[in-house]
Amino acid sequence: MGNTLEDLIRSVVHQVLESNNSLAQSTKLTRSKPIIAANWKMNMTIAKAKDFFEQLQHSPYNYCETIICPSYPLLYPLIEDLGKHGIALGAQNVHEEEKGAYTGEVQIDLLKEMNCTYVIVGHSERRQQGESDEQIKKKIEQVALKSLTPIICIGETKKERDQGKTKEIIKDQLEAALCGIPFGNRNFIIAYEPVWAIGTGETSSPNEAQKIHKFIRGLLAEKLNQAISNEIPLLYGGSVKGDNIKELYRMEDIDGALVGGASLSAESFEAIITALQ
Ligand code: PGA
Repeated sequence: MGNTLEDLIRSVVHQVLESNNSLAQSTKLTRSKPIIAANWKMNMTIAKAKDFFEQLQHSPYNYCETIICPSYPLLYPLIEDLGKHGIALGAQNVHEEEKGAYTGEVQIDLLKEMNCTYVIVGHSERRQQGESDEQIKKKIEQVALKSLTPIICIGETKKERDQGKTKEIIKDQLEAALCGIPFGNRNFIIAYEPVWAIGTGETSSPNEAQKIHKFIRGLLAEKLNQAISNEIPLLYGGSVKGDNIKELYRMEDIDGALVGGASLSAESFEAIITALQ
């Protein structure tokens, strides 16, 4: 009897430990849906965007969290369309100061008023124009301060990759960005976008992308903690399409994608989403 009870307790403790362990390792269990974020860049007009929404066939997508990030002047005209299709609104950038004499820039309060819930920060196309880690950190602070979700982009160039510096670059960019995240905040997304894969048709193989995503997850666990690290969605970006998303999403640490070119037509956008059904 004594033995049986002891065995039973032992087995229950073992099961609890096992399940905790597998929860900690299986990061996908801590999030419910894949995330597909469309970065329209400087490509749409109001007429083209309206046309895009008219052509959507499968919305709303209950199995997938979808976000569209259009140019600033499109934010307001699209609020209704996005709401109707169950798609969240994001901006492609924000200024690092709260307000002031910054001609041509847009402040976070205005993005919030426009119903934006996400803001892309540190996209490589902006880094290439001279945006610094310090500016990116301040932008993340602005976004977090107003409780919007920053989609923080990091990634190495082809040259850096060829020099074997991928992990070093990712680490530097991630550490700088995390300085902008207030203590205890879990409301952010990391998008790993190898610069050589953006708009080139050349995608990182799912295994290659997974290795870097796992590395990022590890860095987050080191800098924050394991529980937070498991909750942070890690998106892959760089020539994602309907025919490669499934293989990418199958990877343990890939929770969705940031999509440029393939998000510009309703058909190719929905091909990505429906592949995840
Ligand atoms: P792409 O762009 O899908 O056209 O490669 C991705 C991005 O720049 O976010």
